[in-house]
Amino acid sequence: MPSFRPQGCQGHDGGGFYRSRTRPFVGSIALSLSLCGGIARADLTTVGEGKKMVLVRAQFPRRQLAAYDLFVVKCTKCHAMRRPIRALRTGITPVTGSVFERGGIKAYVVKMMRKEDSEIGRGDAKILARFLISARSLAKK
Ligand code: HEC
Repeated sequence: MPSFRPQGCQGHDGGGFYRSRTRPFVGSIALSLSLCGGIARADLTTVGEGKKMVLVRAQFPRRQLAAYDLFVVKCTKCHAMRRPIRALRTGITPVTGSVFERGGIKAYVVKMMRKEDSEIGRGDAKILARFLISARSLAKK
């Protein structure tokens, strides 16, 4: 995981220069410019450390905010948000080291749904899976 994570797109004029990532330099500048127009932003931003770490709500587009709020309620009932955040950032789940990409994300939402007292319904699961898949793609940018 890169040690430095830019906070949103404030001062995005320089954003592409300070990222530590493997993609070519020029590509990262173009990417930061194209994503900071307001619809999507590169990377996942969090506040807080350890068990208090949460995804910053404001980084998601408006149409995803209801899903984000559902995620906050449903996916922090049994463990801290840090657990799904780690999986979202790395594409690897933190406890068993499984793949957390599109198919794996759906499987994990179902797995969590089936746990006793999960309070996650089928409709919730669909919304949560869609939200997590899109958050994972944000994390990869
Ligand atoms: C009913 C309790 C419960 C709820 C609700 C819950 N989890 Fe979990 N979660 C667990 C437990 C227990 C584990 C420990 C590993 C396991 O049993 O899979 C876990 C593990 C995880 C892991 C790590 C899995 C691994 O294999 O490394 C991730 C990622 C995760 N949860 C994400 C979520 C997400 C996303 C949601 C919301 C859709 C959620 N959890 C809701 C109980 C829950």
